[in-house]
Amino acid sequence: MTGTMTQDGVATAGTTAAVLEIEGLCAGYGRIQVLDGVGMSVGAGEIVSLLGPNGAGKTTTLLACSGLVKISGGDIRLDGESLLRHSAHVIARKRLAHIPEDRSLFPSLTVDEHLRLCARPGGLDVLELFPELKKRRNKKAGVLSGGEQQMLALGRALVTNPQVLLVDEMSMGLAPVVVERLFAALRDIAVTDGLAVLMVEQHIHLALKYAQRGYVLSGGRVRTRGTAEELVDRWSEIEASYLGR
Ligand SMILES: Nc1ncnc2c1ncn2[C@@H]1O[C@H](COP(=O)(O)OP(=O)(O)OP(=O)(O)O)[C@@H](O)[C@H]1O
Ligand SMILES: [Mg+2]
Repeated sequence: MTGTMTQDGVATAGTTAAVLEIEGLCAGYGRIQVLDGVGMSVGAGEIVSLLGPNGAGKTTTLLACSGLVKISGGDIRLDGESLLRHSAHVIARKRLAHIPEDRSLFPSLTVDEHLRLCARPGGLDVLELFPELKKRRNKKAGVLSGGEQQMLALGRALVTNPQVLLVDEMSMGLAPVVVERLFAALRDIAVTDGLAVLMVEQHIHLALKYAQRGYVLSGGRVRTRGTAEELVDRWSEIEASYLGR
């Protein structure tokens, strides 16, 4: 493997340098600091899991990347360019897609309308990728099942032709079989298109099955990191020492 050493000292899986780099990130809400020097990186074609207990700062890390929380220190770089001087609406036009926990779909817009509104040159043909969505292309998002809605949320991100995809709790409220279908699709896209994926996930074992690497966040700091295999092997130790379970 011709991997690359990134800022936080972790070799990326592919041959390219990290596409998303977070370094010494301090961020929070108003005067409350939540993240305290968080560092991580995601390479092209790589799926990286962000794990940790409730309130660890996982969602805050993703929000910081999208310019949606106040950053008081450190840096976030997309393809080498610092995002810190940009506001959220400028970041939204860059090749960074964010699927928030609540999916943020428009219930009265159809599948087709969602995809057409967001499509950008070079974006994936999502209806070919997900035949389930093609069959429902004229249905309103509000009448789709939870799994179909998550598929649409993923599809809407993929039509924007992102370099980096941030996913917050894809599995929320979904049956494991549906989650596996979505993760498998994501893995295929990461491999074929070189998409860099940073995913927050509560289903630790599912997350580590599809991710190459992971970071465990607790109390706003990265407590441990490693390859998926390393984290699976050490999980009971990690749970006991950082997660207090
Ligand atoms: N809008 C907000 N205003 C103030 N504090 C917030 C806000 N959102 C989150 N927090 C606080 O920031 C901390 C980290 O929250 P965050 O949502 O990032 O955690 P998380 O790791 O995503 O947790 P979960 O697994 O429950 O989703 C928590 O203590 C939370 O109470
Ligand atoms: Mg969260």
